[in-house]
Amino acid sequence: MTTGSPSYSPGLEGVPICESSLSLVEGQAGRLTYRGYSIEDLTLPGATFEQTVALLFDGELPNQTRLDEISSILKRERNLSDEVVEIIRSIAKNTHPMFAIQAAIALLGPKDNDFEPKINTIRDRSLALVAKVATAVGVVAQAYTDRPYTGPRDDESHAEMLLRMITGNESHPEGHVDVMNQLLTLQADHSAGNAGTFTSRVVTSTKAEPEAVVSAAIGALSGPAHGGANEGSLRLFMEIGDPSNAEVEIGKKLDDKFKIPGFGHRVYSVKDPRSEVIQRLASDIIEAGSKVDDYYKIALSVEEVATARLGDRGLFPNVDLFSGCVFAAIGIPVELFTPIFAAGRTLGWVANMEEQWASGNRIYRPTQIYTGEAHREYVPIDKR
Ligand SMILES: CC(C)(COP(=O)(O)OP(=O)(O)OC[C@H]1O[C@@H](n2cnc3c(N)ncnc32)[C@H](O)[C@@H]1OP(=O)(O)O)[C@@H](O)C(=O)NCCC(=O)NCCS
Repeated sequence: MTTGSPSYSPGLEGVPICESSLSLVEGQAGRLTYRGYSIEDLTLPGATFEQTVALLFDGELPNQTRLDEISSILKRERNLSDEVVEIIRSIAKNTHPMFAIQAAIALLGPKDNDFEPKINTIRDRSLALVAKVATAVGVVAQAYTDRPYTGPRDDESHAEMLLRMITGNESHPEGHVDVMNQLLTLQADHSAGNAGTFTSRVVTSTKAEPEAVVSAAIGALSGPAHGGANEGSLRLFMEIGDPSNAEVEIGKKLDDKFKIPGFGHRVYSVKDPRSEVIQRLASDIIEAGSKVDDYYKIALSVEEVATARLGDRGLFPNVDLFSGCVFAAIGIPVELFTPIFAAGRTLGWVANMEEQWASGNRIYRPTQIYTGEAHREYVPIDKR
């Protein structure tokens, strides 16, 4: 029946918010592609995050010359000033790394606040943010874990820099840099409808500076229903403690209507293809008999128990059920899982920002259905 008033879709389910040619989530097929290329191919061993940067910006896979160019731009742009490093270090000790990173990126904004006249600099600003968010994550990690600041080095790739700054290790076991590249790529984009990317579009539409766009999107990503679920799932495995407890503990939590972090998705009605890739990485990288191996076994039990209870409603593991185990296996502290997600996703946010501007950038201004009182007579305080 048509009533003349617009229908309301809670959570904007099913409502398109833009046109985009960046990435495609096919929820029933369980497929994720960037510019038409499958996430499985883009995370093959040896594939770098720099390649994904080139692909999302250019629309095509890069040849070696373009790849080298992207690598050198990221290297050139990733340094932070001493003042910014000092401020980040001072805030990072007393707050969750996600809040420190959100504040750090806002700090990178320029003195003026009118981006439209500078629109021809958008690609430079985008690339600089992809580079600098990663460095900021490294700086926060060093301060958070009480280590001195050691900045980016010329001989490091993007993934190598992140891994060294976060773990403090000068060299890395075989495969770890590859895994970091693949984690960054896997999390780089996920269509424009996810909360963080939608946020980046909304803030872009106000003509805000790119640093304001990314900082706002980091805030959206921090929530446990979004990027924060990777930290939540590992904490849940820590609480469960042993694979043999998983069945009972998860059963109780589901009875209590608890939402299992790393489970369920608005768009996927099958297992998230990113979790399949993550599981391939997990089986390559997790050392048998280690603590992380225990967590991974718990994750597998959680998958089994929760799928048996929820699978017939189309609820399956998403990227975050297993990603924490892979982060932990390469030495990343649990509070730094979501910040790495932010470092990867910055690419998607700025690529969406560019697309939003290119589309005409009309300000987002949806409507509401008002449910409050209408036109009441004001009563002065002495008469109430
Ligand atoms: C991802 C998520 C936010 C999607 O939310 P959504 O599309 O709005 O779905 P809803 O929260 O409305 O859930 C629909 C139903 O499935 C259930 N459900 C959804 N995710 C669940 C989970 N992780 N564990 C248990 N039940 C879940 C809800 O309780 C709800 O049941 P009900 O109809 O009986 O009330 C949600 O699945 C969730 O909170 N998952 C855990 C957090 C997470 O992993 N986030 C990362 C996403 S990549």
